[in-house]
Amino acid sequence: MELVHRPRRLRNGDVIRRMCRETRLSPDSLVYPIFVEETLSGKQPIESLPGQYRYGLDTVEEGIAQCVDAGVSSCILFGIPAHKDALGSSAWDPKGVIQQAIGKIKARYPDFYVITDVCMCEYTDHGHCGALCGHEVDNDQTLELLAKTALSHAVAGADMVAPSDMMDGRVAAIRHTLDEAGYQNIPIMAYSAKYASAFYGPFRSAAGSAPSFGDRKGYQMDPHNRKEALKECALDVEEGADIIMVKPALSYLDIIRECSDAFEVPMAAYSVSGEYAMIKAAAQAGLVDEYRIMCESALSVFRAGANILITYYAKELAAAIQKGDIG
Ligand code: PBG
Repeated sequence: MELVHRPRRLRNGDVIRRMCRETRLSPDSLVYPIFVEETLSGKQPIESLPGQYRYGLDTVEEGIAQCVDAGVSSCILFGIPAHKDALGSSAWDPKGVIQQAIGKIKARYPDFYVITDVCMCEYTDHGHCGALCGHEVDNDQTLELLAKTALSHAVAGADMVAPSDMMDGRVAAIRHTLDEAGYQNIPIMAYSAKYASAFYGPFRSAAGSAPSFGDRKGYQMDPHNRKEALKECALDVEEGADIIMVKPALSYLDIIRECSDAFEVPMAAYSVSGEYAMIKAAAQAGLVDEYRIMCESALSVFRAGANILITYYAKELAAAIQKGDIG
């Protein structure tokens, strides 16, 4: 049969398939989330995230050592403080959990790239992402708290700050505060299009950061919206974000594609706790092949246009890339 177009020619064997791959992955693009708990000694498994741990300040280096061994060169830190109050004042304490963790990591692994999540929800006693005025988060007062927190991370030695609060104007506020203090070279990765998502459930139980009343819909985005993501990214870029982020990843691949097409800055995607927990649960029930689902899901995020992937599977993915199973 005369058939000019036979796409199968390029699928006919491993060498040609690999040659023609349109998406290339590298361990360099992976960021591993690490939880550090101030009052913990040793490490404790996180029930909601099988295979993940909360680290004490005495063991956080162990978490980094595993990243280094796996070929992952960057982490994003989340803190669980000993003390919570209405404003979340432990967040900017120079001796706070994150500030101490950065010191420990940098002392042992000076080249390991440490990103910090900048948000108030783990530090406030009400679990919202900023200072309250009645039952609402007060946007402008929260900007000051976030900027102070980001600066304290930079002073402690963080390489990059990542505000995840979704207050209006926070990138500008943080940029201004960092610059005034001489930290012009610390980049900001903004959680730009962060949706009010049910996929954060396992994280909130891991970090003890669920809101004690209400929800986050007053500041995180409505999952129905697409154009609003473009607006949020545009504002963050204008305010000085060096990297923008879409979060969650898997249910928002369309948003990743659109925002990565629309903006010149690198695009990060956060494959969040619920995405990880679902794969783990399905695999444990014997329903899917965990390894292949992990690879295919991560691949889809890069194919959608992301340059950076934050994922609880970072170490396993780095190994899969190095083995040549993806990438
Ligand atoms: C802090 C923050 C959250 C996540 C990252 N930073 C929780 C939230 O917004 O409720 C979620 C990460 C995940 O689910 O893995 N605001």
